[in-house]
Amino acid sequence: MRTHHCNELREEHIGSDVTLVGWVNSSRNLGGVIFTDLRDCEGLTQCVFHPEEHAALAELAQTLRNEDVVRITGSVRRRLGAVNAKIDTGAVEVVARTLEILNKADVLPFQLDQEGVGEDLRMKHRYLDLRRPRMARNIRLRSRIASAARRFLDDAGFAEIETPVLSNPTPEGARDFLVPSRIHPGHFYALPQAPQQYKQLMMVAGLDKYYQIARCFRDEDLRADRQPEFTQIDIEASFVGQDDIIRLVEGMLASMFSSALGIEVPVPFPRITYADAMDRFGSDKPDTRYAMEITDLGELLAGTEFKIFRGAIDGGGVVRAINAKGLAGITTGQMNRLNELAVQLGLGVKTLAFLKHEQGEVKCSLWKFLCDGEKQALLERLRVEDGDLVFFVAGSREMVSSVLGRVRTECASMLGLTSGTDAWNFLWVVDFPLLAQDPESGTWGAVHHPFTRPNPSDVPLLDAGDFAAVRAVAYDVVLNGYELGGGSIRIHEKDLQAKMFGVLGIGEEEQQVKFGHLLDAFRFGAPPHGGIALGLDRLAMLMAGEDSIREVIAFPKTYKGTDPMTNSPCAIDDAQLKELHITKMGSGCKS
Ligand code: AMO
Repeated sequence: MRTHHCNELREEHIGSDVTLVGWVNSSRNLGGVIFTDLRDCEGLTQCVFHPEEHAALAELAQTLRNEDVVRITGSVRRRLGAVNAKIDTGAVEVVARTLEILNKADVLPFQLDQEGVGEDLRMKHRYLDLRRPRMARNIRLRSRIASAARRFLDDAGFAEIETPVLSNPTPEGARDFLVPSRIHPGHFYALPQAPQQYKQLMMVAGLDKYYQIARCFRDEDLRADRQPEFTQIDIEASFVGQDDIIRLVEGMLASMFSSALGIEVPVPFPRITYADAMDRFGSDKPDTRYAMEITDLGELLAGTEFKIFRGAIDGGGVVRAINAKGLAGITTGQMNRLNELAVQLGLGVKTLAFLKHEQGEVKCSLWKFLCDGEKQALLERLRVEDGDLVFFVAGSREMVSSVLGRVRTECASMLGLTSGTDAWNFLWVVDFPLLAQDPESGTWGAVHHPFTRPNPSDVPLLDAGDFAAVRAVAYDVVLNGYELGGGSIRIHEKDLQAKMFGVLGIGEEEQQVKFGHLLDAFRFGAPPHGGIALGLDRLAMLMAGEDSIREVIAFPKTYKGTDPMTNSPCAIDDAQLKELHITKMGSGCKS
């Protein structure tokens, strides 16, 4: 239907006859001459209708409305008006000879160049939202990112293998989406939270190098970087160690950045242990684009008589601080926000202790409790200068890290340290703890998942029941403060896997019911193996410079987990429920 797309014509095409198709982006009548910007997914071209040359054609062009779908044939000439430097085709225009209206468009529920359209309206008409150049760019960038990953992994000898979507629950820390079985009353499939067990079973099968651009489903609270269905670049390989997977992923990310964005990312990425990340940044996904590191004040306050600090130190805890440089001029509203964030964590902080250095003076509610030597040492240690704002937190190491980590990221955003930078700060976080204790129930859960290998030198600690001290051979890749991916070397021995299930409180019978297939497989020659999964949506979001993964997913769910366009989730009629052996109870259903 067309000879060129709408972003193709340049000066070298002047004089040629062309046919373009697309949507009327805008049309204006200047003294009878009609200028129509024609748009397709590649860009814009200006077309001109002259009444003195083709009166009937110009009359038809007058009827054009935004978003009509048209086909225009004409000849390319140098623009008579000024060159439009904002578009790639801005040096030329097409003088129309024919105009075919392929389909008329009604008035749109929102204009494509309108800012601030509500999310529900955007999602209800997502096919229009995706016509916006920014959205079209994002979706096409995502496609380039995925194909770069495929190319890289294909070249590295990995095979792309699909795994079932109708499967059984796999523990990845979220709730499952369940699908009732019609043929087996009262039984359900679970949609995969990740293809974890299948990819490990493929290693037992000897397939050696697997990958999949895999759709995953998790029923968890939504955030800007979380969707109930999302996509992983899922990788597994046999006879590998942590360094092999890390090197592979560094190479893959570098090649994705290079081919999708033309950016050369330096490798290897820095590595930091989980313990260091928590101590220095208060986060297991630290944003290292700015410093504002947490400073430990324990040594300096060893002899303090200030009750709160003394209590923390004597109780085996810590006193730590961050210096938000240049934030002393913070507004009351901003200070309240920081306090709210700290309190909301629910870790016992009632208000944040702070110190301001303004116009040569120190303002600090704690100052009167400290001796002169301590005051001087604090100012030096924290390198306090005029204009700085320091926050102090005392308590258990974990609590202090969490609170200061949250305060640190918020201060950075108040200081504008994360906006307008084009830094790509990749980081590996390694040596994660294997297990974490639920503070309420006291039970132990896997930090990653139950298939993660304990660090071989920590297995005696596992045997001795010192669970908190056991490290995992697990690694996360972080980009600009976002967890991009996580993986581990796996347990491949039946006995160790059964022991791990035991630690997690999964008894032998339950192990057989839920994981018998895996334990069985490990009896028949399972190779050492490991892997990783990267969140494609998060990566695309960061590469596109967006704040939410909804902006890089063609048809995402809203923050309420709905799709206003198709009305999903929807009620199911009684006949279909009956077929699935589900009976309605009140407003809910029962199987
Ligand atoms: P994990 O649970 O860490 O590991 O997930 C890997 C990556 O998937 C992305 N991700 C999400 N993205 C969008 N919405 C969500 N709800 C969501 N949940 C996770 C993140 C995350 O880093 N099976 C293991 C991997 C392995 O061990 O090989 C797994 O799924 O970017």
